[in-house]
This record gives sequence, C-alpha cells and structure tokens, in this order.
Amino acid sequence: MRAPSGYLLAARYRLLEPVGRGGMGTVWRAHDELLDRHVAVKEVRLPAVLDEELRAELCARTEREGRATAMVTHPSVITVFDVVTEDDRPWIVMELLQAKSLEQLILEGGPLHPRKAAEIGRQILGALRAVHAKGILHRDVKPSNVLVTEDRAVLTDFGLAALEGDVSITQAGIVLGSAGYIAPERVLGSKASPAGDLWSLGATLYTAVEGRGLHGRRTAAAALAALTSGEPIPMTKAGPLAPVLDALLRIDPQTRLDSVRASLMLARVAAGGSAEEPLAARRTTVRPVPEVAQPSFARRPTHRGLHRAEAATAAIEVPSPRQERRPGEGVHRKRGESRPSPSAYARFKATVIKLCLPRRFWPRELRKRG
Ligand SMILES: Nc1ncnc2c1ncn2[C@@H]1O[C@H](COP(=O)(O)OP(=O)(O)O)[C@@H](O)[C@H]1O
Ligand SMILES: [Mg+2]
Repeated sequence: MRAPSGYLLAARYRLLEPVGRGGMGTVWRAHDELLDRHVAVKEVRLPAVLDEELRAELCARTEREGRATAMVTHPSVITVFDVVTEDDRPWIVMELLQAKSLEQLILEGGPLHPRKAAEIGRQILGALRAVHAKGILHRDVKPSNVLVTEDRAVLTDFGLAALEGDVSITQAGIVLGSAGYIAPERVLGSKASPAGDLWSLGATLYTAVEGRGLHGRRTAAAALAALTSGEPIPMTKAGPLAPVLDALLRIDPQTRLDSVRASLMLARVAAGGSAEEPLAARRTTVRPVPEVAQPSFARRPTHRGLHRAEAATAAIEVPSPRQERRPGEGVHRKRGESRPSPSAYARFKATVIKLCLPRRFWPRELRKRG
C-alpha cells in the first residue's frame, strides 16, 4: 500500500517523487502548497494483512519519532514540521535535504577518506550529544540514517528513539535496531544507553572508512563471538581514525570512549591531525610555569611594597604545595574543589592591619604568612 505520486496529503502536501526507502516506508519529496516550499514526507508502509495492534504500534512509533525529533534543535538533527494521520496511517513532514545517505555514498563511491568520515562523525556526535542532553536515545544510528549534504551531516530516523529509562517500547517487542550496528551489551540484553549510541556511531564510521560492515557476513551470533573474543578489530583503511574507532567499539560500555573525548579526537582527525597526539603530548610536555604561579608558604613574596597585602591574600587562597605536585602543575584547581578561603571580613582586617601598622604590631599569624 503506497500513495500514488501527486497525492495531496492533509489538503496541503503534494507528494512528488520518492527520494528514499527504509525499513518503515517511503520518503517523498513533496510540495507544501500552503507555504510554497519543498518538504520531505515520510509515508509509513503498512503490511497487507494488518492487525489492529500493529497499526497502533506503528502509529505510536511515528508519533514518538515526531515528538523526539521536535524536542531537539540542532543543525545535525533533522527538523520535523508536522505529523499527520491520514488514510489510517501516520505521516511525518520534515525538512527536505539535498542529500545522500551515508549508506548510498559508500555504495556509490566506496570507502570514505578518514578525514571526511571524521567530519561526518564529529557532526553526528554533536547531534547525539544534543539528543542525549534531552534524555533521548536514538537507538538506530547506522549509515542509512545519516544524511550527508554538501556541507552538513544530519541524523535522521528517530523511529526507535526513546526517552532514557522508558521500557514500554521494549515490551512492545518491535525491532530494536539493526544487526551490525547494535551495541554488544544491547545484544546481550542490557538497556539502551548513550554509550550504546556511541558504539553504533563507531560501527557506522567503521563502515564508512573500511567500506564494509564490522560484522561482515557473519551471523549475529558469530559476530558477537568475534567481538567478545578480544581480538583486535581488523582495520586497513581507517588510518588516523583507527584509535577513535577502537575506543568507540569497546565491548565494555564503562571503558568506551566518552562523547567529550570522542568529539575532540574526531575534530583533530577531521582537521588533518592525529587523534591521539595532543592527548599524549599533554601527558609528557611540561610547560614552564612563571615564578609567580608557583605558590609557596615558605617563600616570602619578592615584591614587598604596598601591594604586599594582595600577595598575602593570594597566599591564603592557594593550597599548600604537595610533595607529589608535578612541575607543570600550577594553581589551577578543578571546579567545585573546596579551597581554604578566609571570610571577606578576615581578609579586609588583615589588609587594613598591614597597611596601617608596622610589621612588629601585626598578629603573629599574619607575620608568619608575610
Ligand atoms: N529529510 C530527508 N530529506 C531527504 N531524504 C531523506 C530524508 N529523510 C529520509 N531520506 C531518505 O530516505 C531514506 C529512509 O529514511 P528513514 O527516515 O531512515 O526511513 P525508515 O524509518 O523507513 O528507515 C534515507 O536513507 C534517505 O535516503
Ligand atoms: Mg532508516
């Protein structure tokens, strides 16, 4: 059951021609006659023999897709304009992209250059981070759900999306992702999580650079066995992207690359650098720190003019130097870490005393601090 081309949906959207097909149905290029602009319309295909339960599930799924997508505004998340129920089935109206899916790109042009794949990954990861920040899990990240235009990569098809902690969709027993792109822990029965979406992104980028799926032609069980065997993931074309893929495709979600570091690494590869180099450099390079940044209670401030009060205040605020402090470590403190800070009044009093009284009249504690 598919609408004929020329069909006028909701007395407003004229279906022109199909631009894509997926597991759920057909995506049309259509004309919004009210606003006079082109849009994409996703028509949900219903099986010939349809029971009421399935129809209800498909409708619920499409509404969920519309709602989940509409919750996020991001250049790499498809924009949904409308959800319509007509002809007893749901339709999604969304922005029309002059795009090919990543799946099409690989089929037509072969594996992508690692830099190009990294840039697509960087943008899709941005979309995932925006989606996760709203508590939504995509759960179906794969090449056919990534659309690539001249200058954008866009995540689409939120048909399996769910709010974190939502179990109703699992109970309904519908397909929960695509073989080859579902995170191993989900295959083993764990709940979906943001880390699961990151694994799927890793598998998607793997296919993009290697030109073939991570699981090859293996059955799901064989693929899982291969994955969990601990063998290194075979990569021949990934180049600078290999460390990122390796870290995203970790079996254990706890040790999997997190989204912040993943974006950093993808950005570096996309810019023509190496994913790991600057991270390694941070561990080994010791930048010289200016004298003044090295706090010490033992050392008197070298400058002892009128500004002495300020120096004393600074000395009160920095922590005492630890034995294990590395040379590169200065006074930087992690946000949220408590610091010994005297009250504003105590500081004010110390300053007044120092400015007004000769040193021999200062309280002993203040004299010690200098
Ligand atoms: N907004 C869009 N603009 C242009 N093409 C699109 C759009 N949305 C989807 N497509 C095309 O349609 C295909 C199927 O879309 P998708 O939303 O993944 O449907 P399904 O839920 O059936 O998998 C995509 O792979 C892509 O080629
Ligand atoms: Mg799809």
